Amino acid sequence: MKKYFLVLIAMFAIASTLAHAQIVKKEGSFRCGGWNDDFRQLRDLQWNMEELDLSLADCDSIRQNALHSRHRLKKIIFPDKLRIIGSQAIFACDSIESLTLPASIERIESRAFGNCTGLKSITVLSPTPPVLAEDAFSGVDINKINLLVPRGSKKAYKNAPVWNRFFKKPEIKEEQCPTEYAIIPVPNNIAYSHTCMLSTKDLGKIIAPASLSNEQEHLKKVLLERLGIKTFNKSKRPITLAIDSNIGSKEAYRLTVSEEGISIIGSDAIGVFYGIMTLDQMLIPEQDNGILSHLRGVTIEDSPRTKMRELMIDPCRIFIPFEDLKGMITEMARYKMNAMHLHLTDDQAWRIEIKKFPKLTELGSFRVGMDDMQMPIGGFYTQEQMKELVDFAAKYHVEIIPEIEMPGHQVAAIHCYPELTCGAVKLPIRTTCGVSDNLLCPSSEFTYEFLETVFSELSTVFTSKYVHLGGDEAGNPPLECWSGCESCQALLKDIMSAPDTKPQPGSRNDNWRLQKYMFDRVIDFLHKKLDKTPMFWYETDFHEIQPGCVVFAWRHGLTATAIDAAIRCNANIMLCPGEHCYLDYPAAPGDMPEVNWGMPVTSLKQTYKLDPAWGYGKDFEDNNLFGVAGTLWSECINSTERLYYMAFPRALALSEAGWSQQKNRDYQNFLKRLERISRDMHRRGICTANPQ
Ligand code: ACM
Ligand code: ZN
Repeated sequence: MKKYFLVLIAMFAIASTLAHAQIVKKEGSFRCGGWNDDFRQLRDLQWNMEELDLSLADCDSIRQNALHSRHRLKKIIFPDKLRIIGSQAIFACDSIESLTLPASIERIESRAFGNCTGLKSITVLSPTPPVLAEDAFSGVDINKINLLVPRGSKKAYKNAPVWNRFFKKPEIKEEQCPTEYAIIPVPNNIAYSHTCMLSTKDLGKIIAPASLSNEQEHLKKVLLERLGIKTFNKSKRPITLAIDSNIGSKEAYRLTVSEEGISIIGSDAIGVFYGIMTLDQMLIPEQDNGILSHLRGVTIEDSPRTKMRELMIDPCRIFIPFEDLKGMITEMARYKMNAMHLHLTDDQAWRIEIKKFPKLTELGSFRVGMDDMQMPIGGFYTQEQMKELVDFAAKYHVEIIPEIEMPGHQVAAIHCYPELTCGAVKLPIRTTCGVSDNLLCPSSEFTYEFLETVFSELSTVFTSKYVHLGGDEAGNPPLECWSGCESCQALLKDIMSAPDTKPQPGSRNDNWRLQKYMFDRVIDFLHKKLDKTPMFWYETDFHEIQPGCVVFAWRHGLTATAIDAAIRCNANIMLCPGEHCYLDYPAAPGDMPEVNWGMPVTSLKQTYKLDPAWGYGKDFEDNNLFGVAGTLWSECINSTERLYYMAFPRALALSEAGWSQQKNRDYQNFLKRLERISRDMHRRGICTANPQ
C-alpha cells in the first residue's frame, strides 16, 4: 500500500551534508520530538556515524527510540543537562563499550540500553541513583559491566532498586504457579484442576516415540531453559509425547498436567510441537530470576481456527541477513505461526541466487539509498542458504513461501535483463519507494522463459507447496505500460478475437486480459510442471481468480471485494487487510517509522480487532478462509531490531486472530497475558514496541 512518498528536499539537503560524517557533534538548539526531529535524522540518515557528541546540545532527554539499533555507534557523549533516557533510546547500540551518564540524570526508562551487549563500563556522575527501569538493560548481562559511581555514593547505589543488581547476581527465586496460565494465542479450552499440583522438581523423564524425536529435542530445550533440567532420570514423573489422530483436526493437541506428570498428545507431530510451545509459555516465571516450583493441574484442548498464520518479510528494500531470519522463525513458532513469506524481488533489489540468470544478484542486489536514507544496501541469499533456512524452519513447523513479483515490482530484474520489459528499456534500480509503471512484457517469450526458470530453480530450494506471484500495484494507473507496446497490443487483439470474449463492465481498458494471459500461463506451469499452489495479492482488475490459487486481501477498504471474489471463484483467501495487518505501519502516533508516506497508525488493539471471518458466515470460514498474514514491508525498517520492533507484539495479536476461536478472544485479557510473555521476550533480547 505504497502511497506517493513526500520526501522534503530539505531532508535530502540535511542528509547529504551529514552522509559521510563519522564523528558528529551537535551544539545548541536541538529538536527532540515531532516528525523528523534531530534524533530521527541522526539515527536514520547518519548511517555511518561512529561517535556522537551531544555534550553541548540543548537537549535534556534522549527520547524514546532516539538511536535505536545503530550498530556502528561506538561512542556517545550525552548532553550536559540530560535528565531522561527514554524507552529503547540506545537499544542494541552494541558497539558501545563505555558510557558516562551526567550528574543531571534522573530517569532511565524501559530497555533504554536493551541489547547493548558490548557494554563493559558505565560511569554515573549523579550522587543520587537515578530511577532505573527494571528492564533498562534487558538482554544484557549486567554483572559483566563495571559500574563507577561518585565517591561516597556506592552505598546508595548498592541499596537502590535495580542498581543493586550491578553488585550481586540476583538469586533464583522459587515462584508458585500462577492462578491462570498466560498463553498466546488463547487455547480453545482450558480446564483447571483445583487441587492437583505437580512439583517441577519431579520432572525429568520423557516418554516419546522415535517419530517425535524432533519434538523431543524441543521439549528438552524448554526444560533446560525454563527449569534448568539437564539430565533425564527414569524415576522422575514423565512428560509423555504421543500422536493420536482422534484428538482433533490437523495441528490439534491436548495437554494435561496432573500429579502423575504431563502428557501432550497431538493429532500429528505439529500438534505435539504446539503443545510443547504452550507448555513453554506455562513455565514462564513472573520475574526474570524466577523459576516455577509447581504447575497447576490443567487440561488444555486446542486447535487452530485457520490453516495459515504467516508473516511476510521484505528483504528487498532493506536487506535482512540470513541468520536474522532464523531468529524470526523461532519467535513466530512460539505463537503458533506457521509460514514465513519471503518477498524476494522488487523494484529495489533481487535477493535470491538464480543460477541461470547470475546478473540478477550480480547487478540487482546492491544499491545506495532507500528514500532519504542514503546508505549502501546490499546482499542476497544463496540457494544453499535458503535450503538451510527451509530445513531449519521445518524443525519449527514453519514453511518458507518465496514470492517473485509479476508483472510489476520488477525493476531490479529489468535493470539486469532489460529485455524483460516492453521495448527493452534500460532502467536504473529504484532507490525510492512507490509504484513503478515499468512491467514485465506479457507478449515476450523471454518473460516466460525467465519466470519458468526462476520458479523451477526455486522449486528445488523451497519445499513449500505454495509460491507467491505478487500481482499487486502493476503501475499507476495499472497496466498502462502495455498500451504503448506494439507486440502487447497485437497479443491483446488476438485474445479479444477469441469467440467467447465478452466485454468487462467497469474496466478502464482491456489490458487486464494481458495480465490474465500472463497469470494463466504461469499458474498453469506451476500447477502442471511444479505441482505448486500459486498465491497472489488480489487486485480488482484480476476480475476472476484462477482455480486452485490462494489470494490475499490486502487493500484498505477492499477486503469485502476480495472476499466476494474468492467466494465467487471458489478460491482460498488470506486475510491481510491494511486496516489491521500492515505491521510496517506505526503502532502509535509518532512512533517509528516517524517519517513515512502517510501510513495510518495501526495499534496493537487495531491488529487484535481483526476477525478473519470479516463478518461472513460459517460457509466462508469453512470453504474459503485460509489464514491471516501480517506484512513487514521494509522501506522504513533499517535494522533487524526494527523489524522485530514492528512485528512484535502485534504479530502476537495476529496469531491469536488466526489461531483462536472468536468467542475466546478478549483484548483486555490478551493484554494481561501479554505482560508476562513480553517480559520474557525482553529477557531473551527480543525487541518489541511498547503496547499503546
Ligand atoms: C502491497 O502492499 N503492495 C501488497
Ligand atoms: Zn510488451
